[in-house]
Amino acid sequence: MATLSEKKTCSERMENFRRFIWNPETKQFMGRTLINWVWISLYYLAFYVVMTGLFSLSLYSLMRTLNPYEPDYQDQLKSPGVTLRPDVFGERGLQIYYNVSDNKTWDGFITTLQTFLTAYTPAAQHLNINCTSDTYFIQDTFDGPNKTKLSCKFTSDMLQNCSGLTDPTFGFPEGKPCLIIKMNRIIKFYPGNGTAPRVDCTYVGDDSRPLEVDYYPVNGTFNLHYFPYYGKKAQPTYTNPLVAVKLLNITRNEEFKIVCRVVGTGIISDNVHDPYEGKVEFRLKIDD
Ligand SMILES: *[C@@H]1O[C@H](CO)[C@@H](O)[C@H](O)[C@H]1NC(C)=O
Ligand SMILES: *[C@@H]1O[C@H](CO)[C@@H](O)[C@H](O)[C@H]1NC(C)=O
Ligand SMILES: *[C@@H]1O[C@H](CO)[C@@H](O)[C@H](O)[C@H]1NC(C)=O
Ligand SMILES: *[C@@H]1O[C@H](CO)[C@@H](O)[C@H](O)[C@H]1NC(C)=O
Ligand SMILES: *[C@@H]1O[C@H](CO)[C@@H](O)[C@H](O)[C@H]1NC(C)=O
Ligand SMILES: *[C@@H]1O[C@H](CO)[C@@H](O)[C@H](O)[C@H]1NC(C)=O
Ligand SMILES: *[C@@H]1O[C@H](CO)[C@@H](O)[C@H](O)[C@H]1NC(C)=O
Ligand SMILES: *[C@@H]1O[C@H](CO)[C@@H](O)[C@H](O)[C@H]1NC(C)=O
Repeated sequence: MATLSEKKTCSERMENFRRFIWNPETKQFMGRTLINWVWISLYYLAFYVVMTGLFSLSLYSLMRTLNPYEPDYQDQLKSPGVTLRPDVFGERGLQIYYNVSDNKTWDGFITTLQTFLTAYTPAAQHLNINCTSDTYFIQDTFDGPNKTKLSCKFTSDMLQNCSGLTDPTFGFPEGKPCLIIKMNRIIKFYPGNGTAPRVDCTYVGDDSRPLEVDYYPVNGTFNLHYFPYYGKKAQPTYTNPLVAVKLLNITRNEEFKIVCRVVGTGIISDNVHDPYEGKVEFRLKIDD
């Protein structure tokens, strides 16, 4: 340390520095011999190899604990969202406005429904099985092809008069439109506690008249054999069951607000923070 405090000329300092970089007498490079540097490099190389190994090992063991068949973090929401087809959002939410005398105003709705139902043709459903029991379809093993679980068929003909098969216009020109209600999937959700959940549509507000509706399938139920859903990897061909509602007696040239709720144990439809949880609300106006 004493040498550092001594006063030195600039050339002396330069010379000292050069000797530090390469000292020809001791054959030291930056204060160490070459063999020394090799050992240090090897040490750090080994150090990083070990660190990388430990990191990979911990990552690998973490991945091993993850179940590929279901997400580890599911939404806190345990009550399903409900959606409507056709889904036309206007400035006041979902709205179905059309004029029976003007086919251009309802043509888009029919196209939407037809496109939506292409996932429910017998061809699209051919990998799914016919289910007949009215109970939960619980599968503890993987009985499907390629280590999957089986899924039940839902074909559009189950929507009878709203299937688009007997009436390709879904009742729009007669002012008795068919709308389709879909409940979003939740993994391992058992809706209804043993009783099939059903759709119930009513007018919103002080309208005390009952809404005249035909539900398809009968009683507007989601059959229990479509539940529980085990996830996309376990049930790659799963399709959501549907309920169609045919509105039978809608007064023309007047706007109505209608709500369709899914009724069943464990299905909440009064969450003020989520208007689409357990129900779907829409505005309807049929002109002529
Ligand atoms: C419905 O369409 C018909 C024919 O285009 C038209 O005469 C009638 O005014 C329309 N109704 C309304 C409420 O716009
Ligand atoms: C709508 O109605 C007009 C007149 O009836 C007809 O010419 C036209 O092909 C119809 N368009 C569609 C898409 O049905
Ligand atoms: C499933 O049901 C459909 C229609 O009822 C029938 O055509 C088909 O053969 C059935 N498939 C099996 C595997 O039972
Ligand atoms: C099973 O997986 C193989 C390879 O990925 C695929 O070729 C075959 O079509 C699958 N079988 C079924 C029934 O999905
Ligand atoms: C389907 O529509 C026809 C004709 O409107 C009607 O006679 C029949 O009862 C309807 N079917 C069902 C299941 O409501
Ligand atoms: C579900 O049903 C069983 C019997 O059917 C009943 O004991 C239980 O309390 C029900 N659970 C709920 C949450 O309603
Ligand atoms: C429909 O509901 C009625 C009354 O709740 C019931 O008697 C009937 O068995 C139900 N039909 C089906 C197919 O579930
Ligand atoms: C349709 O509704 C109107 C009023 O909302 C009512 O006067 C009429 O009787 C209903 N028609 C049928 C067939 O129920």
